[in-house]
Amino acid sequence: MEMNSKGTAPIGVFDSGVGGLTVAREIMRQLPQENIVYFGDTARVPYGSKSKDNIIRFSRQIIRFLETKDVKAIVIACNTASALALDTVKEEFDIPIVGVIVPGARAAVQATKNGKIGVAGTEATIRSETYTKVIRQMKPEASVIGKPCPLFVPLVEEGFAKHKITEEVIDIYLSDMRKTDIDTMILGCTHYPLLRSRIMEYFGERVHIVNPAYETAMDLKAVLAEQNIANESGESATYEFYVSDAAEKFAHFANTILPYDVTAAKQINIEEY
Ligand code: DGL
Repeated sequence: MEMNSKGTAPIGVFDSGVGGLTVAREIMRQLPQENIVYFGDTARVPYGSKSKDNIIRFSRQIIRFLETKDVKAIVIACNTASALALDTVKEEFDIPIVGVIVPGARAAVQATKNGKIGVAGTEATIRSETYTKVIRQMKPEASVIGKPCPLFVPLVEEGFAKHKITEEVIDIYLSDMRKTDIDTMILGCTHYPLLRSRIMEYFGERVHIVNPAYETAMDLKAVLAEQNIANESGESATYEFYVSDAAEKFAHFANTILPYDVTAAKQINIEEY
């Protein structure tokens, strides 16, 4: 077997903003030896209301930026970018790229007993029907009900996850889905795992809630092993954070969800890439 020369190079993780930190958190937990360079596109968030062309353009720019950091693999932590840009960028770049949709769909297919799966996500993710297509490739008889829940993103970002208004918004978006007999539901947006306990409470025990972040970190682990590029240096991992705007606000939010002290995030001009 070849020497593992890329091992210490970082993993590039990107998202439209802070939400992808839920995926970075899972990578830190499951792959504590891996260095990470995170980019949050805080100047152009939300992606969930943007067109496919723009989401592809943004994703290309971010991957070009991450390549300047010599990353050995990329994780598209954003569901919307995974749904709309992953196939395109995978063909264009010569680097392993992992998205969140396939891992999330796989976890749901493994969990469901009756083949009825709900997906909550952004407008763009649900409109693309990517989750439905991927689930059906894995389980053709599955039935999938998608629901865009755009207000969940600002509620989480404004720190309203535990506020009672969030309960009402959950009810407004998900009451129709609750009336169906789905037995599994995918949190198909980076921010929604931060509402996980509220959504679990709302659906009760009969619905299994899938957080794609967990499976994504497992997929990344498999890719690193397959390509023989896992970090085996034994050194403790380093994490770097870049954003396209509002670096201080990002660092503050990051510190509320990461098991790591984010002292600073650097702002870059992503339009240069
Ligand atoms: N990161 C996005 C996602 O997972 C949510 C926020 C946005 O709309 O950009 O789909």
